[in-house]
Amino acid sequence: MADFNSEFWHWYIAILTVLSILACVWLIRWMTAGFVKKDETETTGHVWDSDLTELNNPLPRWWLGLFYITLAFGGFYLLLFPGLGSFSGFLNWTSTDQYEKEVAAIEAEVGPLFAKYQQTAIIDLIKDGEALKVGERLYLNYCATCHGSDARGARGYPNLRDGNWLWGGDPENIKTSIMMGRQAAMPAWEAPLGGERGVDEVTQYLLSLSGRATIEELAANGKTKYDTFCVACHGPEGKGNIAMGAPNLTDDSWLYGGSINRISESIAKGRNGQMPAHGEFLGEAKVHLLAAYVYGLSQEN
Ligand code: HEC
Ligand code: HEC
Repeated sequence: MADFNSEFWHWYIAILTVLSILACVWLIRWMTAGFVKKDETETTGHVWDSDLTELNNPLPRWWLGLFYITLAFGGFYLLLFPGLGSFSGFLNWTSTDQYEKEVAAIEAEVGPLFAKYQQTAIIDLIKDGEALKVGERLYLNYCATCHGSDARGARGYPNLRDGNWLWGGDPENIKTSIMMGRQAAMPAWEAPLGGERGVDEVTQYLLSLSGRATIEELAANGKTKYDTFCVACHGPEGKGNIAMGAPNLTDDSWLYGGSINRISESIAKGRNGQMPAHGEFLGEAKVHLLAAYVYGLSQEN
């Protein structure tokens, strides 16, 4: 929109604005001129309901006064504040300045508090009710949209209370998840597994890992395939690997749903959950508190 920064638009807006104000002044003078004197009555000739007559009386003085005050206010405002094209106003006020001052004032107030919390280890912070309250407020602002206001998650968004962790549940792991974000990479396996049947076989094997009913002959083939394709990330016993965010497949707790259809879909198409990085955006002090809050939730059970 570089066009709108040109001199032309500055003058276009400034002149139009001034002309509009002058036009209002002219309009009000024109409307008040030529009225009849106080004690005479003149009608406009309009009559309704046989006796309701419209009189041609001047506008009340107080009302006119208000109108002039509004116009004067407009004039002063445009001299003091930005509004007339690119003229910045004699007060040099800008919304950015005001915002930055407000932010600085709040930082000065809460900064020391956050700094104090940041120096406290997370395992100690979870015993500090005040700290957890601040953590909860941050959580509700920045995390609840994805993980839910009760932190129980939703399909594709992990439950943060249940003690099952993709990327590890130590205070440090949790803090890293929030600071740096996480990108899960579970490739699509339909082709390598030889199509739908291969997917079905591995799905049946996974069911057996969490103790669910399985079709034995499929599951046996599935185990061979699992040992070839899946061990690298999910481990020989299917317990997962927090270094890669690969979930435990034996606990019957499913991020993407535990029905046979959902599990085969995860295998066939792959899954690539993403946790956005919050470190730069929130700063380490807030992330530290958030990590304490989340760690605290998982310790409640
Ligand atoms: C390169 C590492 C890697 C390999 C190899 C891999 N996975 Fe995964 N798998 C992951 C990751 C990471 C996730 C989590 C995805 C997410 O959070 O979005 C995952 C998720 C899953 C899920 C969904 C779990 C849930 O809770 O909903 C299933 C099912 C699954 N994998 C099965 C398999 C099977 C079967 C194989 C072998 C055919 C396999 N994976 C091979 C990394 C891998
Ligand atoms: C845009 C949605 C989104 C937002 C916002 C979000 N997360 Fe996440 N988060 C995810 C997803 C998706 C994952 C799972 C990534 C994966 O599949 O590996 C995740 C994973 C995590 C994990 C790791 C869980 C585990 O099992 O290891 C933690 C901890 C976490 N988030 C905390 C937070 C906190 C605290 C906030 C607020 C600052 C937050 N998240 C904001 C989507 C989000």
